[in-house]
Parts: sequence; C-alpha cells; structure tokens
Amino acid sequence: NISLAEDGMAAVEAVKRGPCDLIISDVKMPGKNGLELLESVRAGDSPIPVILITGYGTVNDAVRAIKGGAFDYIQKPFDAETLYTVVKRALGRKNGNIVHVSRAVEQVLLNAQRVARSDATVLILGESGVGKELVAKYIHQHSDRRSGPFVPVNCAALPENLLESELFGYEKGAFTGASMRKPGKFEIADKGTILLDEVTEMDMRLQAKLLRVLQEKEIEVIGSRFPKAVDVRVVATTNRDIKKYVEEGKFREDLFYRLNVFPILVPPLRERREDIPLLVSHFLKKFAKGMDVSVSDEAMEFLKSRMWKGNVRELENVIARACILSDYSVIELAHVKEGGEEEKKEIKPSSVREMEMKLILETLNSVEGNRTRAASVLGITVRTLRNKINEYKALGIQVPSGVN
Ligand SMILES: Nc1ncnc2c1ncn2[C@@H]1O[C@H](COP(=O)(O)OP(=O)(O)OP(=O)(O)O)[C@@H](O)[C@H]1O
Ligand SMILES: [Mg+2]
Repeated sequence: NISLAEDGMAAVEAVKRGPCDLIISDVKMPGKNGLELLESVRAGDSPIPVILITGYGTVNDAVRAIKGGAFDYIQKPFDAETLYTVVKRALGRKNGNIVHVSRAVEQVLLNAQRVARSDATVLILGESGVGKELVAKYIHQHSDRRSGPFVPVNCAALPENLLESELFGYEKGAFTGASMRKPGKFEIADKGTILLDEVTEMDMRLQAKLLRVLQEKEIEVIGSRFPKAVDVRVVATTNRDIKKYVEEGKFREDLFYRLNVFPILVPPLRERREDIPLLVSHFLKKFAKGMDVSVSDEAMEFLKSRMWKGNVRELENVIARACILSDYSVIELAHVKEGGEEEKKEIKPSSVREMEMKLILETLNSVEGNRTRAASVLGITVRTLRNKINEYKALGIQVPSGVN
C-alpha cells in the first residue's frame, strides 16, 4: 500500500494514522519540509525508516538528514533502480522473517552471517520463543548450503528409540517392522543444514552417536554394518543452561565443546524492548486479515513494559488474540492485558537494594549503556552510578556496556 501526502503536515498526520513501514519524502516542501518531517517522525520515537529526496542537494542537507536519523538521502534526478535499491535496503530489516531494530539483534545477525560462510557447528542459546529457529534458518540461508535442504528435528519431541531412527534412519529388516529402508534426517539433510532443536534433551547414548557424526562426518544407519558419509552442517539450539547439564553429567562435555564452537545468544525480548513496536506491526499485518487494525497508546505502553517470559512467541500470541478481541479495529489495553501466561508476580525483588539494582540495570539497557544519560534519567550523579555499577560487576552481574 502506498499513501500520498501533499506536504510535510499531511505526512505527519498519515504516519499517526499508521501503520507505515517507510517514508519517502522530498526535502523542499511548503509548510513542513522533509527535514522537519524527519524530526517529527523521530520525535515520536518511531523506528520508521525515512528516505529523503531533493533536487537541490547540498552537502549540508545531506549531513543534517543523516544526523537527524534519515535512512538515506537521494539526489534528483535519480533512476528507479537507485530508489529501488535504497527502498529494499530500508525495508531489509524486515525482508527476511526476522524483524528488528535493536542493536542486540543486529549483532546476532552479523555473527550469524559471519559463521554462515564457514561450515562450523553453531549452538544457538536463548530463552523459549526468542527466535532461535529463525536464526538457524537465517544461517542456512546465508550459507553456501542455501540451495540444499534445511531439516529441523525436535530432539525433545520423541522418545530415544524413535529419535534415533528419525536421525540416523534404518536398513530394511533392521528390526521387526522395518519393511523398507528409511533414510534418517542426517541423510535427508545431506548438502544442507540440520537443526537439532533442544539438543540437551538427547539421551547419553544418542549424544555419543551425534559426537561421532560431528567428528567423523559419517553416520551409523541402524542395521547397517558400514558407516555412511554425510555432508551436513549442524546447528543446535537449547533454551536450557547447557553448562549446568554438563556439570550435572546429563550432557557429554566433549559433545558440548564440539557444539559450542560458535555460540550465538539470542537475547530475551525484555532486553531489547525497542523491537516491540516493530514486532507488533509485523504481527498485526499477519493477523489483521487485511483490515486496518491499530493499537491504542495505552495498549502499546503496556506491551512495551511487560516481562515477556515467553518472548516473541508470546507477543505473537497476544497480538493474534487482541486482533480478535478488538473485532479487528482498535486494540485497547483490555485486549492485551488479560490472557498471557505471566506477570504481576513478576517483580518481587526482596529488598530495596535489589529494586534499585533492577531499576539501574533496566535504565542502562534502555539508553544502550550510556552512563551519562542513565544517570540523568535516574536523577543521580554519574559518579554514584559508576560506584553502583562497580558493585554489581564485583557481584558478577552483567552490566550493559556503553559510552562513558
Ligand atoms: N525477530 C522476529 N521477527 C519476527 N518473528 C519472530 C522474531 N523472533 C521470533 N519470531 C516468531 O516467534 C515465534 C518463535 O520463534 P522461534 O520458534 O524461532 O523461537 P525459538 O527460540 O526457537 O523458541 P523455542 O525455544 O520455544 O523453540 C515464531 O513464530 C517466530 O516466527
Ligand atoms: Mg525452537
């Protein structure tokens, strides 16, 4: 959908009515010019990318545009190709399936791209529903194996024996009932990527078999006397504390080291709240069935402030439900408030000190680690803040790093 706005003022109104994924605007306009439009959009704390176009391109305007947070700046006359490329890049953040604006996710994707080019085994860590499977697919799609298969296997879903034949396959006659040869997922994933979801749930015997695959690049098909070579990239995920599993003897240490060659941690949604509005519009598009569903300010505030224990998946479910409850019109607070798995009991730090720590860490997160800004938001001096931070660090608590 493309909406036209006559001038800057009209554009601001149109953006308010939303939803809007991208603004392409002239710089010289009557009333509000393009740079002022950019300013109002940014003041509204909106992540919408803005592309500015001008016929009177001066270096000054370009610098101001970029400083003001424009996505890019195009000079007239331009060809369609140029515009197309920039638009594609601007929407690129949501082109794949992974929607984000946060630096945290940007970093995850950069690491994913980097490792994708190699054949290294990747271990994707993160809470339930953060998007681990999406990242696994992303790695596959950015690798040389992209034209090969991507084969997900949920290791928690099957009992041991079934999982074994699922993964490694069996020969005809391997056991009673094996009337035909059945290829395992490793064979199916040949020249592609296998995703071992919830790998910690694999039992010890299968862990040994998996280790062998990683070391020897060959599988033992059940009922076969000869190992079979496979060319498969292994990506594994877990939402558990895998190191603890190792300590408790539930997960082989040698396998852990094999898998952990390149760990990628997908941060929980509550640590990248800036992604929430974008995800909300993404899911609105998905569930609104083409109707013009919007979210009230109150409802959005609520969505931005929740703990999201179930992460993106939970947000997705809440939006799906809210669309229905709102009769596909305006989603109000009540539509997003009830339901959901959690909350309320959530914040129960046992002391003022813990409360203070929570507040300080959350504030630091929200200003991307900027000490000066955090101190001013909190109404304390930078020095006091530094002292607190040092205290937390001494306790082994991770503090968002950032400027000064
Ligand atoms: N950045 C994102 N943009 C769009 N959709 C997302 C994003 N992250 C997660 N999702 C969606 O949220 C849901 C959960 O994602 P996914 O299955 O990848 O999570 P997971 O970490 O593998 O969860 P689990 O640990 O429960 O297996 C999916 O429907 C996925 O499409
Ligand atoms: Mg998953």
